[in-house]
Amino acid sequence: MGLKPKPQVLFGRKEIEAAVSRLAAEIRGDYHDKHPVLIGVLKGAFVFLADLVRQLDFPLEVEFIRLSSYGKGKESSGKVKVVQGLGSNVKGRHVLIIEDIVDSGLTTTFLIDYLGKKKPVSIRVCALTSKPSRQKLPVTIGYLGFTVPDKFIVGYGLDSGEEFRNLPNICFIGGDE
Ligand code: IMP
Ligand code: MG
Repeated sequence: MGLKPKPQVLFGRKEIEAAVSRLAAEIRGDYHDKHPVLIGVLKGAFVFLADLVRQLDFPLEVEFIRLSSYGKGKESSGKVKVVQGLGSNVKGRHVLIIEDIVDSGLTTTFLIDYLGKKKPVSIRVCALTSKPSRQKLPVTIGYLGFTVPDKFIVGYGLDSGEEFRNLPNICFIGGDE
């Protein structure tokens, strides 16, 4: 039981707002006439998704899916489970997965495969952050907010043991390396 880590700001509100606006413009260009289903991956994507959809001024639907691979630790267990499934059918729809972070890529790869079996017309990934240094499986991220260093990221929806989701900034904890 050491001292509680103090989150350090990596990206502040201004940078986040600019990134969300940029992503919204890209997504609007590609999906404004496609009536997409945005699938937020709980819990981490809830803040990002809430900000993003308010900048999308065309018809769309929002769904959530809850996956789990980490439990309470910081290392992936390597196994992904659907803890809470989708509330509607995505067959024949354009699906945009909204992720908080692509780390090892295991979760996103699992989700693309899982949703692919439901026969959508298209699937793309929009991720707030990506940590390429930790990637184990290749994931094509169609819309990316930030590339982050090999540090543990919290805030703006992301947690460490369920803490820090409410921080308005994207922060990191531990290690100054
Ligand atoms: P994966 O390793 O790409 O499968 O990431 C799985 C999940 O672990 C992500 O969706 C996050 O919820 C969580 N995760 C991975 N890296 C971090 C991090 O740096 N901070 C907070 N959560 C993380
Ligand atoms: Mg997540």
